[in-house]
Amino acid sequence: MKLGSGLFAAAALLGVATLSGLHAAEPDNHSPDIPAAIRPLMVDPEQAQSDFIEQCAGCHGVRGSTVPAKLPEIKGRVGWFMCTPAARAYLLRLPNVAHSRITDNSQLADLMNYVVFVLGGQSVPAGTKPFTAAEVAHERQFPLTSGSLKAERLRFANDAIRKCRAPASLRLQYPGSAL
Ligand code: HEC
Repeated sequence: MKLGSGLFAAAALLGVATLSGLHAAEPDNHSPDIPAAIRPLMVDPEQAQSDFIEQCAGCHGVRGSTVPAKLPEIKGRVGWFMCTPAARAYLLRLPNVAHSRITDNSQLADLMNYVVFVLGGQSVPAGTKPFTAAEVAHERQFPLTSGSLKAERLRFANDAIRKCRAPASLRLQYPGSAL
């Protein structure tokens, strides 16, 4: 009896080992490293990352990517919206951002700088200034409604395509979507 259960446990362990072996080949689902050059753009980079995980990653994924789920792709794209003042304001006026339960505007600025500079990566136009607490405090007073969101987004995507040479696919919420 003892031997039998021991064998069973060994088989179960083997099963786990095989499964975790398979897992290693799948896409990495851990938070990205915060590049050293970007850390100074945030007061508290670790807090910003954990705020993103807690408040945003449930929908957007820890790396800002949800393909094939039908959500806007943040990873490697969101930075293009820093192209014009109105487009960067759009990011702060998104309902989930403007209405965030983070009341400290400096903490919310950190979170959005994490989103733009860490998750947005190469999509951030050269010379882009990080969000400030004052900017967040101002823009979050004007949250977008679900009615205005789509049209506004398209306008800002078109501006970024024209003025900052963002790829035409920025018009889409995620690669391969209909408009
Ligand atoms: C309940 C799911 C959900 C949560 C939580 C959420 N979002 Fe979103 N997010 C969406 C959806 C859906 C959209 C598309 C626009 C819309 O319908 O609001 C969106 C749009 C966006 C966009 C615009 C991307 C683009 O290409 O236009 C950004 C940036 C964003 N969210 C960031 C955040 C951040 C930062 C948080 C956390 C503070 C967050 N989201 C929390 C679902 C979510």
